[in-house]
Amino acid sequence: MVMENYSYTHLSAGDLLREERSRSGSEFGQLIDTYIKEGKIVPVEITISLLKKAMEETMKADDKNFRFLIDGFPRNQDNLQGWNHVMDGKADVKFVLFFDCGNEVCIDRCLERGKSSGRTDDNRESLEKRIQTYLQSTRPIIEQYEKQGKVRTIDASQSVDEVFADVKNILEKEG
Ligand code: C5P
Ligand code: MG
Repeated sequence: MVMENYSYTHLSAGDLLREERSRSGSEFGQLIDTYIKEGKIVPVEITISLLKKAMEETMKADDKNFRFLIDGFPRNQDNLQGWNHVMDGKADVKFVLFFDCGNEVCIDRCLERGKSSGRTDDNRESLEKRIQTYLQSTRPIIEQYEKQGKVRTIDASQSVDEVFADVKNILEKEG
C-alpha cells in the first residue's frame, strides 16, 4: 500500500532470504531454510548482500528510485552492525516504522496466514521461537533507534485501513 501511494521501493529482508533459499545453485539455501524454521536471524553477510544488490539494481533501473522501505531489517545487533558497516556513507536511515502489536494478535494473524502462505514458519512452534527472537534480539534494536529519536510507532493491532491511515500521517510529515 505504501508503494502504491509513495515513491518508495519496498524491499523485504524475509522475502529476499526466501528467494535466495529457493534459487537453484545457492550455497546458502539449506542454512536459510534451517534459520527460518527455527525463527533465528540469518548471519548478516548473507542478508546485507541481498539487500545491497536489490538496492543497486533498483537504482540502476531508474536513478529516481533511491528511496527504500526496508522491511524486517535490522532484526538483531549483527544485522545492525552489518548495515552500519556496509551502508556507511551510502544510505541514510530517515526513520523506523515500528508496527507495534501484542504477541497474541501476531500469532493469530500468522496462523491465519499459514492456512495459505505455504511458509514453513507460520506454525505455532516456529512462531513461539520467532517471538523469543523478537524479545531477545529485535526489541533492543528498536530501543537503540528510539534513543536516536528515529522510531515512529504505529498501533498495528488496528484494522488494515486504520494502520495504513497512521502510516500515511507519518509519511506525510516525514516527506
Ligand atoms: O520478516 P519475515 O517474517 O519475513 O522473516 C521471516 C524469517 O526470515 C525470520 O524469522 C528469520 O528467520 C529470517 N530473517 C532473517 N533476517 C532478517 C529478516 C528475516 O534472518 N533481517
Ligand atoms: Mg515480512
